Amino acid sequence: MSATHRHLLDIEKLETQRIVQFLDTAEVFFDVSRRKIRKVPTLRGKTVINLFFEASTRTRTSFEIAGKRLSADVVNVSSSGSSVSKGETLLDTVKNLEAMQPDVIVMRHGSSGAPHFIAKRTRASVVNAGDGTHEHPTQALLDAFTIRRAKGRLAGLVVTITGDLTHSRVARSNAHLLTRLGATVRVCGPRTMIPPGIERLGVEVFDNFARAAEGADVLMMLRIQRERMGEVLFPTAREYSRHFGLNHKILKLAQPDAIVMHPGPMNRGVEIDPEIADGPQSVVLDQVEAGVAVRMAVLYLLAGEAGQSPLS
Ligand code: NCD
Repeated sequence: MSATHRHLLDIEKLETQRIVQFLDTAEVFFDVSRRKIRKVPTLRGKTVINLFFEASTRTRTSFEIAGKRLSADVVNVSSSGSSVSKGETLLDTVKNLEAMQPDVIVMRHGSSGAPHFIAKRTRASVVNAGDGTHEHPTQALLDAFTIRRAKGRLAGLVVTITGDLTHSRVARSNAHLLTRLGATVRVCGPRTMIPPGIERLGVEVFDNFARAAEGADVLMMLRIQRERMGEVLFPTAREYSRHFGLNHKILKLAQPDAIVMHPGPMNRGVEIDPEIADGPQSVVLDQVEAGVAVRMAVLYLLAGEAGQSPLS
């Protein structure tokens, strides 16, 4: 398998054909989670290590469940309970885990590029589960999967991504993926949270939420990433919410059948009105369900045997 197919490190360098292959394969796995027996033998005898150096609820659990539903052996390692807290380097940690012969290392790390560094130094397949402010490829895949299921297509849709664009790996991966598959992507946030040169991603840039939301098919909200903020980029949560929080007034400006997305974890009342988060247009929990199917597809395409069919 070529290096680009052995790992999933980012959306930017992924071929469009491979993106579509991940999405189409996820359709096959989606039904497995709705069956009475939620398990297929596909990755029997394979080992997946979830190596998480940053907090996670959805992504880590979702990879674990995905691996288990494929019959892989899944092991979770987090920085707090591991020798990383004793000062071991990332490379030493990975080399030691590698000596136990895993097939896939799923990795979340606070430094952008950490999974790329490891991918060059291990025999295992590496999946980037979020690297600093860089990319979060499986989140973009599950978002695209959710939009495609809700709208039947991606091409021609207007997707407005609003919030902390500077620190959001979710926004970056989504901008790459959605523009590649023919959607128009608008990004919106306070000027202090718009990184210079963002239009190079092929997106339209707004600092006025009402204008960005007008006629949109999808409103994707982002969390304010306080843990990554060295400096304060907005005065107060209330002020932020007034200008960039999703409320009923803004929602009315979008298409009547627009869907509302959020990767989680949500700051209710800051970037999204709780009534909208729980309302009829919200697909937030559909995103979570899609996450398992997408990650099953990723693990299967990276670690399955050549010529093996997905469900056996
Ligand atoms: C995101 C992340 O960690 O990048 N969460 C997720 O994986 N669902 C977004 C966030 O933390 O705001």
